[in-house]
Amino acid sequence: MASNKKSSLSPFFPFLKIVTVIGARPQFIKAAVVSRAIQISNKKKKIQEILVHTGQHYDYLMDKVFFEELDLPQPHYHLGVGSGSHGKQTGIMLERIEAVLQKEKPGAVLVYGDTNSTLAGALAAAKLDIPIAHVEAGLRSYNRRMPEEINRLLTDHLSTFLFCPTTQAVQNLLKEGVRNGKGKIVKNVGDVMFDSILYYSKIAEKKPTILKDLDLFNPQSTIRNPQYYLATLHRAENTDDPKRLKSILKALNEIGKKAPIILPLHPRTKKMMKTYDLSPDDHRVKLIKPVSYLNMIALEKNARAILTDSGGVQKEAYWFKVPCLTLRDETEWVETVKSGWNILIGAGTRKILNGLKLIESRKSFRGERELFGHGKAGEIILHVITKHFMKVKRAAMDGQ
Ligand code: UD1
Ligand code: UDP
Repeated sequence: MASNKKSSLSPFFPFLKIVTVIGARPQFIKAAVVSRAIQISNKKKKIQEILVHTGQHYDYLMDKVFFEELDLPQPHYHLGVGSGSHGKQTGIMLERIEAVLQKEKPGAVLVYGDTNSTLAGALAAAKLDIPIAHVEAGLRSYNRRMPEEINRLLTDHLSTFLFCPTTQAVQNLLKEGVRNGKGKIVKNVGDVMFDSILYYSKIAEKKPTILKDLDLFNPQSTIRNPQYYLATLHRAENTDDPKRLKSILKALNEIGKKAPIILPLHPRTKKMMKTYDLSPDDHRVKLIKPVSYLNMIALEKNARAILTDSGGVQKEAYWFKVPCLTLRDETEWVETVKSGWNILIGAGTRKILNGLKLIESRKSFRGERELFGHGKAGEIILHVITKHFMKVKRAAMDGQ
């Protein structure tokens, strides 16, 4: 385990030391929002954030590119865990995170989403009786065969702070008896990914050249009349099941006959396509390497429609008002489906092709962006945590 950075803050002063545990692509994006809020509010050096990277994702385009683009501070600890089976990966993370927590003795541990890094961070903290703050609490697919569902369920039930992105998430927790009070703070703070999109989509308008590089601007293709589709695929239920993977790729081949499809390939999907010897055979299905966040925003915003099994990408399609087909049998982001802007279509070839016709013919947008907050989730999270620990500190001083 390498500690590669010393904090510039005084060892005497941090009013609160928080250890943030991240490790996978979407967590870099989410954590950048709260880290920025901490840095901005930190003129009085109240909070010291120690960033721990488990190493779950490690390819440059799954990892470092996000630190560079999003100005996320370099991790204080890189645990170098890498890939492995669920038990092995989570177990090694647990052991290494525990060592960091024993050394740093933080007042709280901050975890994001539902990956193995999330669960390992939460479990390590819970065993050491350190309060956990879970960002993106309360999401449910109600499918316990999904590793993410297990991760988020356990993390929620271990957490002290449950920062929900939507009212639906608060209700989901309520159904499981997790509510505000009795040592738990449950709050709808909005979605940190929405904060991120508001912040970066302006920057993404200027910087990326990806549309040009991929030759996606042609005389018929304007922002109002985009001529390509965007797809992402990485869920185990799709990539590790050859029938589903084949069926989705067959649909992409058909769609490719209408207009090019850009598919930034997750390394898991690349690996499984090789294992099963499957790949789209139409040259208009363009398999490219994973792209940076700003490039992804540019691709999303200008797409004719998006086909995805990603949680984050479903919401981004909704925020950009791009029609979306979700290649899954259930979704945690039910608001996007209720809005009519996203159809939960599964993995059947025919269903996908019919679903695309339907979603492209829909004209009305019923959803409200405010369903995911007002772009202040990062600040609210910080405010709630700070307020709570001030109260604890005051109570301790009064008791002295
Ligand atoms: C993980 C999360 C998932 C999240 C996704 C975001 C879990 C259980 N799953 O899935 O919830 O949506 O991240 O992208 O935590 N690999 C590489 N290079 C990398 C990373 C992975 O080659 O940098 C390959 C390895 O072969 C690895 C496979 O991808 O075995 C899967 O990686 P892993 O982190 O286990 O799960 P994801 O599918 O990425
Ligand atoms: N993303 C990206 N480059 C890509 C694919 C996705 O920057 O090549 C971004 C995407 O815009 C979203 C996040 O990664 O913000 C979603 O991550 P992912 O799909 O890996 O995980 P999930 O959200 O399903 O957990």
